[in-house]
Amino acid sequence: MDKLIITGGVALDGNIRISGAKNAALPILAATLLADEPVTVGNIPHLHDITTTMELLGQMGVGLVVDEKLNIEVDTSTIEKFYAPYELVKTMRASILVLGPLLARFGRAEVSLPGGCAIGSRPVNLHIEGLTRMGAEIEVKNGFIHARAKRLKGAHLVLDQVTVTGTENLMMAATLAKGTTIIENAAREPEVVDVARCLIAMGAQIEGAGTDTLVIEGVQRLGGTHHYVLPDRIETGTYLVAGAMTGGRVKVKDTNPAMLESVLEKLEQAKVKLNVGDDWIEVDARGLRPQAVDIRTAPYPAFPTDMQAQFTALNSVAEGSGMISETVFENRFMHVQELQRMGADIKLEGNIAITKGIKRLTAAPVMATDLRASASLVLAGLVAEGGTLVDRIYHIDRGYERIEEKLEQLGAKIRRIPG
Ligand code: EPZ
Repeated sequence: MDKLIITGGVALDGNIRISGAKNAALPILAATLLADEPVTVGNIPHLHDITTTMELLGQMGVGLVVDEKLNIEVDTSTIEKFYAPYELVKTMRASILVLGPLLARFGRAEVSLPGGCAIGSRPVNLHIEGLTRMGAEIEVKNGFIHARAKRLKGAHLVLDQVTVTGTENLMMAATLAKGTTIIENAAREPEVVDVARCLIAMGAQIEGAGTDTLVIEGVQRLGGTHHYVLPDRIETGTYLVAGAMTGGRVKVKDTNPAMLESVLEKLEQAKVKLNVGDDWIEVDARGLRPQAVDIRTAPYPAFPTDMQAQFTALNSVAEGSGMISETVFENRFMHVQELQRMGADIKLEGNIAITKGIKRLTAAPVMATDLRASASLVLAGLVAEGGTLVDRIYHIDRGYERIEEKLEQLGAKIRRIPG
Protein backbone atom coordinates (compact mmCIF):
# COMPACT_ATOMS: atom_id res chain seq x y z
CA MET A 1 0.00 0.00 0.00
CA ASP A 2 1.33 3.42 -0.96
CA LYS A 3 2.17 5.86 1.81
CA LEU A 4 2.79 9.61 1.84
CA ILE A 5 5.63 11.16 3.86
CA ILE A 6 5.19 14.85 4.61
CA THR A 7 7.74 17.13 6.30
CA GLY A 8 5.79 19.95 7.94
CA GLY A 9 6.62 23.61 8.41
CA VAL A 10 6.50 25.00 4.88
CA ALA A 11 4.18 27.95 4.21
CA LEU A 12 2.54 26.94 0.93
CA ASP A 13 2.78 29.43 -1.91
CA GLY A 14 1.51 29.12 -5.43
CA ASN A 15 -1.37 28.43 -7.81
CA ILE A 16 -3.07 25.17 -8.67
CA ARG A 17 -5.86 24.09 -11.03
CA ILE A 18 -8.94 22.43 -9.61
CA SER A 19 -10.05 19.16 -11.26
CA GLY A 20 -13.55 18.10 -12.26
CA ALA A 21 -15.84 17.05 -9.41
CA LYS A 22 -15.71 13.35 -8.53
CA ASN A 23 -19.23 13.48 -7.09
CA ALA A 24 -20.61 14.85 -10.35
CA ALA A 25 -18.54 12.68 -12.71
CA LEU A 26 -19.70 9.44 -11.05
CA PRO A 27 -23.48 10.02 -11.40
CA ILE A 28 -23.02 11.55 -14.87
CA LEU A 29 -21.17 8.44 -16.09
CA ALA A 30 -24.08 6.39 -14.71
CA ALA A 31 -26.54 8.71 -16.50
CA THR A 32 -25.00 7.79 -19.87
CA LEU A 33 -26.78 4.42 -19.49
CA LEU A 34 -30.03 6.29 -20.20
CA ALA A 35 -28.98 7.48 -23.68
CA ASP A 36 -29.42 5.51 -26.92
CA GLU A 37 -26.65 7.56 -28.53
CA PRO A 38 -23.03 8.07 -27.44
CA VAL A 39 -22.46 10.60 -24.61
CA THR A 40 -19.06 12.24 -24.12
CA VAL A 41 -18.08 13.49 -20.66
CA GLY A 42 -15.22 16.00 -20.27
CA ASN A 43 -13.18 17.41 -17.33
CA ILE A 44 -13.23 13.99 -15.66
CA PRO A 45 -10.78 13.83 -12.73
CA HIS A 46 -8.10 11.15 -12.88
CA LEU A 47 -9.22 9.18 -9.81
CA HIS A 48 -9.50 5.58 -8.77
CA ASP A 49 -13.29 5.86 -8.44
CA ILE A 50 -13.47 6.90 -12.11
CA THR A 51 -11.45 3.84 -13.13
CA THR A 52 -13.80 1.68 -11.04
CA THR A 53 -16.84 3.24 -12.74
CA MET A 54 -15.33 2.58 -16.17
CA GLU A 55 -14.73 -1.03 -15.14
CA LEU A 56 -18.32 -1.24 -13.92
CA LEU A 57 -19.70 0.03 -17.25
CA GLY A 58 -17.19 -1.96 -19.28
CA GLN A 59 -18.09 -5.30 -17.69
CA MET A 60 -21.72 -4.60 -18.71
CA GLY A 61 -20.56 -4.52 -22.32
CA VAL A 62 -20.80 -0.74 -22.65
CA GLY A 63 -18.29 0.80 -25.10
CA LEU A 64 -15.86 3.33 -23.58
CA VAL A 65 -13.45 5.45 -25.61
CA VAL A 66 -11.02 7.61 -23.60
CA ASP A 67 -8.91 10.36 -25.17
CA GLU A 68 -5.63 11.76 -23.86
CA LYS A 69 -7.47 14.47 -21.91
CA LEU A 70 -9.55 11.78 -20.17
CA ASN A 71 -12.71 12.80 -22.05
CA ILE A 72 -14.78 9.63 -21.97
CA GLU A 73 -17.22 8.67 -24.73
CA VAL A 74 -19.79 6.14 -23.53
CA ASP A 75 -21.73 4.06 -26.08
CA THR A 76 -24.36 1.78 -24.54
CA SER A 77 -25.47 0.20 -27.84
CA THR A 78 -23.40 -2.92 -27.04
CA ILE A 79 -24.62 -3.37 -23.45
CA GLU A 80 -25.39 -7.01 -22.62
CA LYS A 81 -25.35 -7.23 -18.81
CA PHE A 82 -27.31 -5.20 -16.28
CA TYR A 83 -25.25 -6.19 -13.32
CA ALA A 84 -23.01 -4.46 -10.73
CA PRO A 85 -20.80 -7.10 -9.04
CA TYR A 86 -19.89 -7.07 -5.33
CA GLU A 87 -16.16 -6.96 -6.20
CA LEU A 88 -16.63 -3.49 -7.69
CA VAL A 89 -19.46 -2.17 -5.52
CA LYS A 90 -17.58 -2.96 -2.28
CA THR A 91 -14.77 -0.64 -3.41
CA MET A 92 -17.09 2.14 -4.52
CA ARG A 93 -20.54 2.59 -3.00
CA ALA A 94 -21.46 5.13 -5.66
CA SER A 95 -21.95 2.09 -7.96
CA ILE A 96 -25.53 2.17 -6.64
CA LEU A 97 -26.02 5.02 -9.14
CA VAL A 98 -26.42 2.54 -12.03
CA LEU A 99 -29.60 1.15 -10.45
CA GLY A 100 -31.97 3.94 -11.52
CA PRO A 101 -30.67 4.27 -15.10
CA LEU A 102 -30.59 0.49 -15.74
CA LEU A 103 -34.15 0.11 -14.46
CA ALA A 104 -35.45 3.10 -16.39
CA ARG A 105 -33.89 2.19 -19.74
CA PHE A 106 -33.66 -1.62 -19.68
CA GLY A 107 -36.26 -2.58 -17.07
CA ARG A 108 -33.83 -4.71 -15.06
CA ALA A 109 -30.83 -4.46 -12.73
CA GLU A 110 -28.87 -6.68 -10.35
CA VAL A 111 -26.80 -4.41 -8.12
CA SER A 112 -24.78 -5.55 -5.13
CA LEU A 113 -25.75 -3.82 -1.91
CA PRO A 114 -22.95 -1.33 -1.16
CA GLY A 115 -22.69 -2.26 2.51
CA GLY A 116 -21.40 0.16 5.10
CA CYS A 117 -18.15 2.05 5.16
CA ALA A 118 -15.92 3.75 7.73
CA ILE A 119 -18.10 6.83 8.11
CA GLY A 120 -21.41 5.10 8.61
CA SER A 121 -23.91 2.36 7.75
CA ARG A 122 -24.82 4.24 4.53
CA PRO A 123 -28.17 2.53 3.85
CA VAL A 124 -29.81 2.84 0.43
CA ASN A 125 -33.38 2.35 1.63
CA LEU A 126 -34.49 5.71 0.20
CA HIS A 127 -33.22 4.74 -3.27
CA ILE A 128 -35.13 1.43 -3.09
CA GLU A 129 -38.33 2.88 -1.60
CA GLY A 130 -38.46 5.60 -4.27
CA LEU A 131 -37.96 3.19 -7.16
CA THR A 132 -40.57 0.85 -5.69
CA ARG A 133 -43.00 3.75 -5.53
CA MET A 134 -42.25 4.26 -9.24
CA GLY A 135 -43.41 0.73 -9.97
CA ALA A 136 -40.21 -1.29 -9.76
CA GLU A 137 -40.33 -4.79 -8.24
CA ILE A 138 -37.33 -4.92 -5.97
CA GLU A 139 -36.14 -7.81 -3.84
CA VAL A 140 -33.03 -7.57 -1.66
CA LYS A 141 -31.55 -11.05 -1.31
CA ASN A 142 -28.07 -12.51 -0.68
CA GLY A 143 -26.57 -9.04 -0.61
CA PHE A 144 -27.99 -8.05 -3.97
CA ILE A 145 -30.72 -5.70 -5.13
CA HIS A 146 -32.76 -7.59 -7.74
CA ALA A 147 -34.91 -5.07 -9.60
CA ARG A 148 -37.41 -5.34 -12.47
CA ALA A 149 -39.79 -2.86 -14.05
CA LYS A 150 -41.85 -3.04 -17.24
CA ARG A 151 -41.88 0.72 -17.45
CA LEU A 152 -41.39 2.96 -14.42
CA LYS A 153 -44.22 5.36 -13.77
CA GLY A 154 -44.08 8.86 -12.36
CA ALA A 155 -44.72 9.24 -8.60
CA HIS A 156 -44.89 11.97 -5.97
CA LEU A 157 -41.94 11.21 -3.67
CA VAL A 158 -41.18 12.94 -0.38
CA LEU A 159 -37.73 11.85 0.78
CA ASP A 160 -37.48 11.19 4.55
CA GLN A 161 -34.09 12.82 4.55
CA VAL A 162 -31.88 14.64 2.09
CA THR A 163 -29.82 12.13 0.13
CA VAL A 164 -27.45 13.19 -2.64
CA THR A 165 -27.11 9.93 -4.58
CA GLY A 166 -30.69 9.01 -3.66
CA THR A 167 -31.92 12.20 -5.34
CA GLU A 168 -29.66 11.53 -8.34
CA ASN A 169 -30.79 7.90 -8.71
CA LEU A 170 -34.49 8.79 -8.55
CA MET A 171 -34.09 11.82 -10.83
CA MET A 172 -32.30 9.69 -13.44
CA ALA A 173 -34.96 6.96 -13.20
CA ALA A 174 -37.76 9.52 -13.57
CA THR A 175 -36.40 10.89 -16.88
CA LEU A 176 -37.72 7.83 -18.78
CA ALA A 177 -40.68 6.98 -16.52
CA LYS A 178 -44.24 7.33 -17.82
CA GLY A 179 -45.72 10.60 -16.56
CA THR A 180 -44.59 13.14 -13.99
CA THR A 181 -42.35 12.54 -10.98
CA ILE A 182 -42.10 15.04 -8.14
CA ILE A 183 -39.21 14.62 -5.69
CA GLU A 184 -39.64 16.69 -2.52
CA ASN A 185 -36.88 17.20 0.04
CA ALA A 186 -34.46 16.69 -2.85
CA ALA A 187 -30.72 17.32 -2.45
CA ARG A 188 -29.60 20.74 -3.73
CA GLU A 189 -25.84 20.05 -4.06
CA PRO A 190 -24.13 21.60 -7.12
CA GLU A 191 -23.26 18.08 -8.27
CA VAL A 192 -26.98 17.20 -8.39
CA VAL A 193 -27.53 20.32 -10.51
CA ASP A 194 -24.70 19.25 -12.85
CA VAL A 195 -26.31 15.82 -13.31
CA ALA A 196 -29.62 17.54 -14.11
CA ARG A 197 -27.88 19.82 -16.62
CA CYS A 198 -26.39 16.79 -18.39
CA LEU A 199 -29.75 14.96 -18.42
CA ILE A 200 -31.52 18.03 -19.85
CA ALA A 201 -28.87 18.23 -22.58
CA MET A 202 -29.70 14.58 -23.37
CA GLY A 203 -33.37 15.56 -23.78
CA ALA A 204 -34.75 15.10 -20.25
CA GLN A 205 -37.43 17.45 -18.90
CA ILE A 206 -36.40 18.50 -15.39
CA GLU A 207 -37.50 21.57 -13.43
CA GLY A 208 -36.25 22.75 -10.03
CA ALA A 209 -32.65 21.48 -10.05
CA GLY A 210 -30.87 23.19 -7.14
CA THR A 211 -34.08 23.55 -5.17
CA ASP A 212 -35.61 21.03 -2.74
CA THR A 213 -38.37 20.10 -5.22
CA LEU A 214 -37.67 18.45 -8.58
CA VAL A 215 -40.38 17.96 -11.21
CA ILE A 216 -39.45 15.51 -13.95
CA GLU A 217 -41.65 14.85 -17.00
CA GLY A 218 -40.81 11.40 -18.36
CA VAL A 219 -39.82 11.21 -22.07
CA GLN A 220 -39.57 8.29 -24.52
CA ARG A 221 -35.81 8.39 -25.00
CA LEU A 222 -32.65 10.32 -24.25
CA GLY A 223 -29.99 11.12 -26.84
CA GLY A 224 -26.29 11.93 -26.89
CA THR A 225 -24.52 15.06 -25.67
CA HIS A 226 -21.12 16.34 -24.63
CA HIS A 227 -20.96 17.35 -20.97
CA TYR A 228 -18.13 19.15 -19.19
CA VAL A 229 -18.11 18.26 -15.47
CA LEU A 230 -18.18 21.15 -13.00
CA PRO A 231 -15.15 21.87 -10.73
CA ASP A 232 -14.70 20.01 -7.46
CA ARG A 233 -15.79 22.28 -4.59
CA ILE A 234 -14.35 19.93 -1.94
CA GLU A 235 -10.94 19.80 -3.59
CA THR A 236 -11.17 23.61 -3.80
CA GLY A 237 -11.94 23.92 -0.08
CA THR A 238 -9.24 21.44 0.88
CA TYR A 239 -6.44 23.43 -0.80
CA LEU A 240 -7.74 26.70 0.63
CA VAL A 241 -7.57 25.16 4.11
CA ALA A 242 -4.01 24.00 3.33
CA GLY A 243 -3.05 27.60 2.58
CA ALA A 244 -4.78 28.86 5.73
CA MET A 245 -3.20 26.25 8.04
CA THR A 246 0.36 26.69 6.75
CA GLY A 247 0.26 30.51 6.89
CA GLY A 248 0.78 30.61 3.15
CA ARG A 249 -0.80 31.99 -0.03
CA VAL A 250 -2.69 29.61 -2.28
CA LYS A 251 -4.67 30.51 -5.40
CA VAL A 252 -7.03 27.85 -6.76
CA LYS A 253 -8.07 28.28 -10.40
CA ASP A 254 -10.73 26.79 -12.72
CA THR A 255 -13.20 26.60 -9.84
CA ASN A 256 -16.48 28.33 -8.96
CA PRO A 257 -16.64 30.30 -5.68
CA ALA A 258 -20.46 30.24 -5.72
CA MET A 259 -20.38 26.47 -4.96
CA LEU A 260 -18.71 26.81 -1.57
CA GLU A 261 -19.98 30.01 0.00
CA SER A 262 -20.48 28.32 3.40
CA VAL A 263 -16.82 27.23 3.35
CA LEU A 264 -15.56 30.70 2.34
CA GLU A 265 -17.69 32.18 5.14
CA LYS A 266 -15.87 29.92 7.65
CA LEU A 267 -12.47 30.90 6.26
CA GLU A 268 -13.47 34.57 6.71
CA GLN A 269 -14.45 33.76 10.31
CA ALA A 270 -11.00 32.15 10.70
CA LYS A 271 -9.64 35.62 9.88
CA VAL A 272 -7.56 34.63 6.89
CA LYS A 273 -7.58 36.96 3.87
CA LEU A 274 -9.65 35.84 0.88
CA ASN A 275 -9.66 37.28 -2.65
CA VAL A 276 -12.39 35.90 -4.91
CA GLY A 277 -12.67 36.09 -8.73
CA ASP A 278 -15.14 34.56 -11.20
CA ASP A 279 -13.30 31.25 -11.45
CA TRP A 280 -10.55 31.55 -8.84
CA ILE A 281 -10.10 32.03 -5.10
CA GLU A 282 -6.96 33.08 -3.25
CA VAL A 283 -6.35 32.55 0.45
CA ASP A 284 -3.58 34.64 2.03
CA ALA A 285 -2.63 33.67 5.58
CA ARG A 286 0.95 34.90 5.47
CA GLY A 287 2.04 35.98 8.95
CA LEU A 288 -1.35 34.95 10.34
CA ARG A 289 -2.55 32.16 12.66
CA PRO A 290 -6.17 31.25 11.79
CA GLN A 291 -8.86 31.66 14.46
CA ALA A 292 -10.78 28.49 15.43
CA VAL A 293 -14.30 28.31 14.01
CA ASP A 294 -17.53 26.53 14.94
CA ILE A 295 -18.85 24.15 12.28
CA ARG A 296 -22.18 22.39 11.90
CA THR A 297 -22.44 20.14 8.85
CA ALA A 298 -25.74 19.82 6.97
CA PRO A 299 -27.00 19.37 3.39
CA TYR A 300 -26.21 22.06 0.81
CA PRO A 301 -26.13 25.05 0.95
CA ALA A 302 -25.10 24.58 4.59
CA PHE A 303 -21.54 23.60 5.51
CA PRO A 304 -20.58 20.36 3.67
CA THR A 305 -19.81 17.23 5.69
CA ASP A 306 -17.03 16.54 3.17
CA MET A 307 -15.16 19.58 4.51
CA GLN A 308 -15.57 18.72 8.21
CA ALA A 309 -12.36 16.72 8.63
CA GLN A 310 -10.30 19.45 6.95
CA PHE A 311 -11.66 22.10 9.33
CA THR A 312 -11.09 19.82 12.32
CA ALA A 313 -7.42 19.81 11.25
CA LEU A 314 -7.45 23.58 10.83
CA ASN A 315 -8.96 24.08 14.30
CA SER A 316 -6.24 21.83 15.76
CA VAL A 317 -3.63 24.53 15.12
CA ALA A 318 -5.89 27.61 15.21
CA GLU A 319 -6.13 30.25 17.94
CA GLY A 320 -8.82 29.40 20.49
CA SER A 321 -11.50 26.74 20.80
CA GLY A 322 -14.04 25.46 18.31
CA MET A 323 -17.07 23.18 18.27
CA ILE A 324 -17.55 20.88 15.29
CA SER A 325 -20.91 19.17 14.96
CA GLU A 326 -21.32 16.39 12.37
CA THR A 327 -25.02 15.93 11.67
CA VAL A 328 -24.92 13.99 8.37
CA PHE A 329 -22.95 10.80 9.13
CA GLU A 330 -22.89 8.87 12.38
CA ASN A 331 -19.19 8.10 12.45
CA ARG A 332 -17.25 10.76 10.63
CA PHE A 333 -14.66 11.57 13.30
CA MET A 334 -12.23 8.74 12.51
CA HIS A 335 -9.55 11.36 11.82
CA VAL A 336 -9.81 12.69 15.39
CA GLN A 337 -7.87 9.90 17.08
CA GLU A 338 -5.17 10.16 14.42
CA LEU A 339 -4.94 13.94 14.93
CA GLN A 340 -4.78 13.33 18.71
CA ARG A 341 -1.74 11.13 18.08
CA MET A 342 -0.16 14.19 16.47
CA GLY A 343 -0.83 16.16 19.64
CA ALA A 344 -4.18 17.74 18.76
CA ASP A 345 -6.35 18.70 21.75
CA ILE A 346 -9.79 17.43 20.65
CA LYS A 347 -12.54 16.04 22.86
CA LEU A 348 -15.29 13.94 21.28
CA GLU A 349 -18.78 14.05 22.75
CA GLY A 350 -21.12 12.05 20.53
CA ASN A 351 -21.32 13.82 17.18
CA ILE A 352 -19.55 16.90 18.51
CA ALA A 353 -15.79 17.53 18.56
CA ILE A 354 -14.50 20.26 20.88
CA THR A 355 -11.14 21.52 19.64
CA LYS A 356 -8.54 23.62 21.44
CA GLY A 357 -5.87 24.90 19.08
CA ILE A 358 -2.21 24.28 19.85
CA LYS A 359 0.73 26.09 18.26
CA ARG A 360 2.27 23.07 16.58
CA LEU A 361 1.34 19.43 15.95
CA THR A 362 4.07 16.82 16.03
CA ALA A 363 4.65 14.28 13.31
CA ALA A 364 3.49 10.70 13.83
CA PRO A 365 2.75 7.64 11.70
CA VAL A 366 -1.00 7.90 11.02
CA MET A 367 -3.54 5.91 9.06
CA ALA A 368 -6.16 7.11 6.63
CA THR A 369 -9.61 5.60 7.14
CA ASP A 370 -11.79 7.37 4.62
CA LEU A 371 -11.39 9.86 1.84
CA ARG A 372 -11.77 13.16 3.67
CA ALA A 373 -10.18 11.94 6.91
CA SER A 374 -7.07 11.12 4.91
CA ALA A 375 -7.04 14.64 3.47
CA SER A 376 -7.16 16.08 6.99
CA LEU A 377 -4.14 13.98 7.99
CA VAL A 378 -2.19 15.28 5.01
CA LEU A 379 -3.12 18.84 6.02
CA ALA A 380 -1.97 18.11 9.58
CA GLY A 381 1.30 16.72 8.21
CA LEU A 382 1.89 19.98 6.34
CA VAL A 383 2.10 21.87 9.64
CA ALA A 384 3.44 19.20 12.02
CA GLU A 385 7.00 19.26 13.26
CA GLY A 386 8.93 16.44 11.63
CA GLY A 387 8.01 13.81 9.06
CA THR A 388 4.42 12.49 9.10
CA LEU A 389 3.82 9.12 7.46
CA VAL A 390 0.25 8.69 6.21
CA ASP A 391 -0.63 5.07 5.50
CA ARG A 392 -3.49 3.57 3.43
CA ILE A 393 -3.56 6.54 1.09
CA TYR A 394 -5.60 4.60 -1.45
CA HIS A 395 -8.45 6.44 0.26
CA ILE A 396 -6.91 9.72 -0.93
CA ASP A 397 -6.39 8.47 -4.47
CA ARG A 398 -10.15 7.93 -4.69
CA GLY A 399 -10.91 11.61 -4.36
CA TYR A 400 -7.86 13.81 -4.91
CA GLU A 401 -6.22 13.92 -8.31
CA ARG A 402 -2.39 13.84 -8.01
CA ILE A 403 -2.48 15.31 -4.48
CA GLU A 404 1.27 15.11 -3.90
CA GLU A 405 2.05 16.77 -7.25
CA LYS A 406 -0.37 19.63 -6.55
CA LEU A 407 0.99 20.12 -3.03
CA GLU A 408 4.61 19.96 -4.32
CA GLN A 409 3.62 22.65 -6.82
CA LEU A 410 2.72 24.75 -3.77
CA GLY A 411 6.09 24.11 -2.13
CA ALA A 412 5.13 21.30 0.24
CA LYS A 413 7.74 18.72 1.19
CA ILE A 414 5.76 15.59 0.35
CA ARG A 415 6.49 12.37 -1.44
CA ARG A 416 4.78 9.09 -2.17
CA ILE A 417 6.38 5.86 -0.99
CA PRO A 418 5.07 3.06 -3.21
CA GLY A 419 3.87 0.28 -0.97
C1 EPZ B 1 -22.86 11.66 -1.19
O1 EPZ B 1 -22.94 10.41 -0.55
C2 EPZ B 1 -21.39 11.88 -1.50
N1 EPZ B 1 -20.92 10.81 -2.41
C3 EPZ B 1 -20.59 11.86 -0.19
O2 EPZ B 1 -19.25 12.15 -0.52
C4 EPZ B 1 -21.12 12.97 0.71
O3 EPZ B 1 -20.43 12.91 1.94
C5 EPZ B 1 -22.62 12.76 0.94
O4 EPZ B 1 -23.32 12.71 -0.33
C6 EPZ B 1 -23.25 13.89 1.76
O5 EPZ B 1 -23.04 15.10 1.14
C7 EPZ B 1 -21.23 10.92 -3.72
O6 EPZ B 1 -21.89 11.85 -4.17
C8 EPZ B 1 -20.70 9.84 -4.62
P1 EPZ B 1 -26.36 10.76 1.32
P2 EPZ B 1 -24.39 9.72 -0.34
O7 EPZ B 1 -27.23 9.73 0.69
O8 EPZ B 1 -25.29 10.12 -1.43
C9 EPZ B 1 -28.59 8.72 4.94
C10 EPZ B 1 -16.97 11.89 -0.44
O9 EPZ B 1 -16.24 12.13 0.49
N2 EPZ B 1 -29.27 7.90 3.93
O10 EPZ B 1 -26.58 12.19 0.98
O11 EPZ B 1 -24.16 8.28 -0.09
C11 EPZ B 1 -27.09 8.43 5.02
O12 EPZ B 1 -26.85 7.34 5.88
C12 EPZ B 1 -18.26 11.15 -0.22
O13 EPZ B 1 -16.78 12.26 -1.64
C13 EPZ B 1 -30.23 6.98 4.34
O14 EPZ B 1 -30.50 6.84 5.53
O15 EPZ B 1 -24.85 10.40 1.00
C14 EPZ B 1 -26.54 9.72 5.56
O16 EPZ B 1 -26.66 9.73 6.97
C15 EPZ B 1 -18.32 10.60 1.17
N3 EPZ B 1 -30.85 6.22 3.40
C16 EPZ B 1 -27.46 10.79 4.97
O17 EPZ B 1 -28.64 10.10 4.53
C17 EPZ B 1 -30.57 6.34 2.06
O18 EPZ B 1 -31.18 5.63 1.25
C18 EPZ B 1 -26.88 11.51 3.77
O19 EPZ B 1 -26.39 10.53 2.90
C19 EPZ B 1 -29.60 7.28 1.67
C20 EPZ B 1 -28.96 8.04 2.62
